[in-house]
Amino acid sequence: MAGEYEVLLSEEVLQRKVQELGRQITADYRGKRLLLVGVLKGAVVFIVDLARNIDLPLEIDFMAVSSYGASTETSGVVRIIKDLEASLQDKDVLIVEDIVDTGLTLDYLRQNLLSRSPASLRICALLNKRKERKAPVPLDYVGFEIEDQWVVGYGLDSGELHRNLPYIGLVKDAQPLSKREEPCE
Ligand code: IMP
Ligand code: MG
Repeated sequence: MAGEYEVLLSEEVLQRKVQELGRQITADYRGKRLLLVGVLKGAVVFIVDLARNIDLPLEIDFMAVSSYGASTETSGVVRIIKDLEASLQDKDVLIVEDIVDTGLTLDYLRQNLLSRSPASLRICALLNKRKERKAPVPLDYVGFEIEDQWVVGYGLDSGELHRNLPYIGLVKDAQPLSKREEPCE
């Protein structure tokens, strides 16, 4: 594998940031009923590490969504493939996402979850690409701002591969446009 990737954010840098986010969330949610909502599949690695760095009783649940193909990309039409099991009533919900690009996925999820009457709703994203934003989404916790480039590792994929890398890297044969055709992302 060596030589195939360029390391953008090392394992150590990621872990330090996740600890920092965990400390901040612990302080902000003390005494509340925290529910972490992970967006499958990309956020899986991040949400597990983040949860272990939050020193509060909390629930974890997952949603899977899919964007429609390239022709409807700008419409922001998103389909729910797997819904939450938990009710959001009276819960303080924190959406945990791997990366924000156009913002269309999170914009849809945010509106959808807000309609279920949570006590509060915030968003935590590990990575933020600001350049391609089409829908403005309020990000309450952000790990890193990155350039408009395709990144993999720490849960993020290229053609479903590389999610298991412990760092965030750039992969030479990445196919940025394929993300619109893959379900669950
Ligand atoms: P958007 O904000 O609706 O455009 O979509 C964000 C989703 O696209 C993320 O949840 C990721 O699953 C995927 N995505 C965007 N950029 C990247 C990347 O650089 N690497 C891997 N997945 C990405
Ligand atoms: Mg995602």
